Amino acid sequence: MYSDLSAAERGKYVCALRAAQMVKSGMKVGLGTGSTAYWLVKHLGQMVREEGLKIQGVPTSTRTKDLAISEGIEIITLDEAGWLDLTIDGADEFDAEFTLIKGGGGAHLQEKVVAMASDKMVVIADASKRVDSLGAFPLPVEILKFGANATQKLVGQVLTDLGYHDIDMSIRAVDGTPFETDEGNVVLDLKMGTITDPSALSTALNQLPGVVENGLFINICQAVIVGNADGSVTTEWKDGRDTEVAQLMPAEDTNLFANLGDE
Ligand code: A5P
Repeated sequence: MYSDLSAAERGKYVCALRAAQMVKSGMKVGLGTGSTAYWLVKHLGQMVREEGLKIQGVPTSTRTKDLAISEGIEIITLDEAGWLDLTIDGADEFDAEFTLIKGGGGAHLQEKVVAMASDKMVVIADASKRVDSLGAFPLPVEILKFGANATQKLVGQVLTDLGYHDIDMSIRAVDGTPFETDEGNVVLDLKMGTITDPSALSTALNQLPGVVENGLFINICQAVIVGNADGSVTTEWKDGRDTEVAQLMPAEDTNLFANLGDE
């Protein structure tokens, strides 16, 4: 199955596999959302079913909840959990400080609440998510439907005041219909180029009453696991620990000889 995956998908598969190895029986685990977190839930599901791993998962979206249940993972709410040992989630961008942009899937509100209620947050990503400066990926900002146009105007004012120009913002839509988050809000995607001061931007955005939460994760993530198409992963820690490198899947296509019989 692994050998059938595209290069990008292999990177996601292996970083999720390394993260799953950090999960031990008895843990309460925050389960992220997105195409990389998908593999995490798949790996954990397999460990639960085949290796007797006993965990309680707190999903960060309805999508992840449905997937985790179908994988046989016990699901509890964050309030039932109280506090989490570990949250593992994807990211749309991460920089050298492990500041993240999240919310490409529109789930960053629950993701941030869950990550901040955890002893540790580990990000899983393929190599394409690493950036020198944040901002090539549009910053998602969850806003109330009520007064969305006025909020959009105020967001524009905040960006101008902070010195951003050439701003392009739009309410996220799917097939012409505004995308609705799990909390019933909408998402404003902000294109403003390089984010020079993520902290100032995050604080200023969150001060607007119509803003529910922005997609900047600052000082939340402790480690980033990067998965590569050759089956290798690197685990980098914010606390200065040495970077770990591991070859989790064979670099060669394991199906290399699979078609020889057809000739
Ligand atoms: C969900 O809203 C996001 O925060 C995702 O975690 C992020 O977009 C990464 O998703 P992928 O793993 O699909 O790139």
